[in-house]
Formats: sequence, structure tokens, C-alpha cells
Amino acid sequence: MAEVKFENVTKAFGETVAVRDLNLEIHDKEFLVLVGPSGCGKTTTLRMLAGLEDTTQGRIYIDGKDVTYLPPKDRDIAMVFQSYALYPHMNVYNNMAFGLRNRLVSTSMKQLRAGVTLIMWFIVIALITAISQISGYIFGQAFYSMMMFGGIGAFFLALGLYPDFRMALTWKGMIFLSKYSQLAHEYIEIEKTIEDRVNWAAEILEIPELLNRKPRQLSGGQRQRVALGRAMVRQPKVFLMDEPLSNLDAKLRNSMRAELATLQSKLEITTVYVTHDQVEAMTLGHRIAVMNKGVIEQIGTPDEVYSKPETLFVAGFIGTPTMNFIKGKVEAGTKGLELVSLGINLHLSKEELGEKFTRLQHYEGKEVILGIRPENIKIDTQIKFAASLPGTVTFVEPIGSVTNLFFEIGIGQKITVSVEGYHKIARGDSSTLFFPYEMMHFFDPTSGKRIA
Ligand SMILES: Nc1ncnc2c1ncn2[C@@H]1O[C@H](COP(=O)(O)OP(=O)(O)OP(=O)(O)O)[C@@H](O)[C@H]1O
Ligand SMILES: [Mg+2]
Repeated sequence: MAEVKFENVTKAFGETVAVRDLNLEIHDKEFLVLVGPSGCGKTTTLRMLAGLEDTTQGRIYIDGKDVTYLPPKDRDIAMVFQSYALYPHMNVYNNMAFGLRNRLVSTSMKQLRAGVTLIMWFIVIALITAISQISGYIFGQAFYSMMMFGGIGAFFLALGLYPDFRMALTWKGMIFLSKYSQLAHEYIEIEKTIEDRVNWAAEILEIPELLNRKPRQLSGGQRQRVALGRAMVRQPKVFLMDEPLSNLDAKLRNSMRAELATLQSKLEITTVYVTHDQVEAMTLGHRIAVMNKGVIEQIGTPDEVYSKPETLFVAGFIGTPTMNFIKGKVEAGTKGLELVSLGINLHLSKEELGEKFTRLQHYEGKEVILGIRPENIKIDTQIKFAASLPGTVTFVEPIGSVTNLFFEIGIGQKITVSVEGYHKIARGDSSTLFFPYEMMHFFDPTSGKRIA
């Protein structure tokens, strides 16, 4: 069980308000995607939840417990960053084990480890001295000095060049002492747990054969998996992911996206995922929170956010190509209302619009913004329950599965229409555009809020 709750959380960096009065509840086992343009406050929100950033105001709860002032290590959270931030000198196994080891290994174990390191260093230096002494007896004083300084120099150089070597000394030293020390014995148990978990994660991520490699010997996608694996072995209450796929090429991103979704449902760990990519948001999230300038404008399932955007911003942000907007005045017509804009007169039928019509009546004499998605507009064939307009093609963009047609309607107003497959219409052609009433969205131009 892990629910997350932000309560009136604000974060300001001096004058800049990065997050403003955020209220958000994330359910247990939920995959919540925080999506929004660059600089809207996504990373800041995650960092506050992780404890890497203080809140200026408000409270954060995990499982009902107030964690607002808890340090990161006590929050039981694992974060995956955009830059994988793997330790270059450690192999994949140790990279994945690192966080968990740090958490499980107690301070006294660390002290013992430091002691063992010291003893090992002492032994190595003593050995070098002894060998130099013996060779000095045989070959003379000058040779002795050469061996002595050369040996010690080489030893320290090796330590500097291969920090792993230092590690090896340490961990091996622990195991060496295990027979004599209860602490070291516990340590071995911990190492076993770590090994089990790392193998388990490597198995799921299909990277068991990479465990001995260094990060530089891995592809971007493989590094990505290691970074995920590192978070997985922690088995935290909450996963935080900040654009973890953005460094991958398009194809790999698609396949990793699918894997992530499967993985999350398998592990059933509450996940908060940050992205500015709306396709990623739509495909991954159980629910999506759309953020703009530090404020969450809408939270809902991908379908809700797509088919019933609550604000102009959300309407424009979700969906490609972006939704078409026509600003016009609502006027009384012969049979219902008309939306009147530059050279456009769009009939708004009372019968077809139903409840939407009632709400639009309050706007008679005022301006509204009509929104309609490119894929919802039909051309050529007359369809029922739709308003129609003439338009001229200005540009055709065939992109394989769909063709985007750019039309000019009224006086210089641009409309995009997406049709499936290839379309034989060409630049300069005229056609009638049909706007189904069911697919119309209306927004208030001042507040940006949805009217109907
Ligand atoms: N340490 C900081 N000091 C000052 N301002 C900051 C700091 N961190 C972030 N900001 C500001 O806070 C705002 C939100 O930043 P944040 O990193 O949360 O955006 P984001 O949504 O993650 O953007 P992106 O998609 O580009 O990563 C930005 O205006 C940014 O400049
Ligand atoms: Mg960010």
C-alpha cells in the first residue's frame, strides 16, 4: 500500500514560483503521469516528493504519513532520472546493488569495512616493503629504493585508476572476516539478499548477461534498464521517474515504453512518471495530470483528458496534430445560434447540441472559442449531425498512416484535418468540411475554461 498526497504544496525559488498550491492524490498501485511543457514544474514536484527539495508551503503524505520534513532516505522512494547517473567505475551488478547496499548496511558494518580496508592496505604496503628489502639485499641499496618508491607509487596509482580495486579489497575483506565477526556474518546475509534482488531485476529486465560490464560498455537502452533495475532492487513504496526514456531513439523509446507499462503492472508499485511527451503520457498513465506554469489544470484518465479537456491549455496540449480553435461571437440565428467569425458562419443546432446549447445560450452576444480535433473533422462525404463550411486546401502532408490536410476557411483562418491513409486531394482544391456537433468543444476566451 502506498498512496501519495500533495496538500496545498507551493514551491518558490526566490521570485519564481515553480509549483503553485498543488493538490494531488495518487492512488495505491497507480501509474500517474505528470505531463506539461518545459519549465512547468514537473521535476520540482518529483524532487519535493523525493525529499530532494524543501516545500515552501503545504504538506506531502505517503501512506497517510506526513513526510514533508523527512529526509530522502527515510521516504522509501526510488527515483530514475533522465540522465541515468550510473557510476562509471562500477559494473552493472554493483550499480544495481549500490542503493540497496547503502540502505541495508548499518553504520557499524561500514566502520568494520573501513577497518578491514585499513588492514588490507597495511598488508599490501608491508608486502611491498618486504619484497624491496629482499631484493635490496640481493641487488644493493639503489635497487631497494627504486623498488620501494616504485612499488608504493604504483600501488597508489592503481588505487586511483581503479577504484573498483579498492572496493574489491573491502568487500572481500568483509567476507574474509565473516568467520570471526557477527557483523560480517550479517553482512554476508545482506549480500545474499542483494544478489537475489539484483538477479531478480536483471531477469525481468532481460540483462543477466550484462551484470559484469561497465556502463561505458552498454548501449543507451541497456543503461536505461540498469537505471530502472537499480530502482527496482530497492523495492520501494513509490517509483519516481523523470523523463527516463528521453535519451533513447524513437524506436527504442517505443519498446521501452511498452515494457515499462507491463513492468509497472507486474510490480504493482505506485509510480509517478514525468514527461513532456503527450504520447508517452497517454499510453503509460492510468491517470494523467496536465501541468501548466506550476498549476495542474486537469487530472483524469487519458480518455477523459482527450475527449473532455477542461481548459484551452489542456485541449491544445493533448493530441497531435493539435486541436483547431476558432474564436467567434455567439449570435442568434434563424434556427438556433450561429458562431460568427472572420468570414465564417457556423450553425449551432439546438437539437444536436442539446445540453451544450443551453450553456452556449448564456454566451449570446459574447465571444467563445470553438475547439475541434483534426481527426474529428470529415471532408467530402456528407455526414449527419454536423455543421458544414467550405474550405480550400493550402498544404498536404502525407505521413503514412494518416494524411494531414491544411485548409483555409473564412478569411485567412487555418484548419487542420487528419484523414486516414493516403488522400488524393491536392493544394488549391476546395472541399466541404463537416464538424460533428458531438465533437465540438467550447471554451471561455477570458478564463480559458471549458463551457461545454
Ligand atoms: N534550483 C532552482 N533555482 C531556481 N529556479 C529553479 C530551480 N529549479 C527549477 N527552477 C525553476 O522552476 C521552474 C520549474 O522547473 P522544473 O525543473 O520543475 O521544470 P520541468 O517541468 O521539470 O521542466 P523540463 O521539462 O524542462 O524538465 C522553472 O522555471 C525553473 O527555471
Ligand atoms: Mg524536468
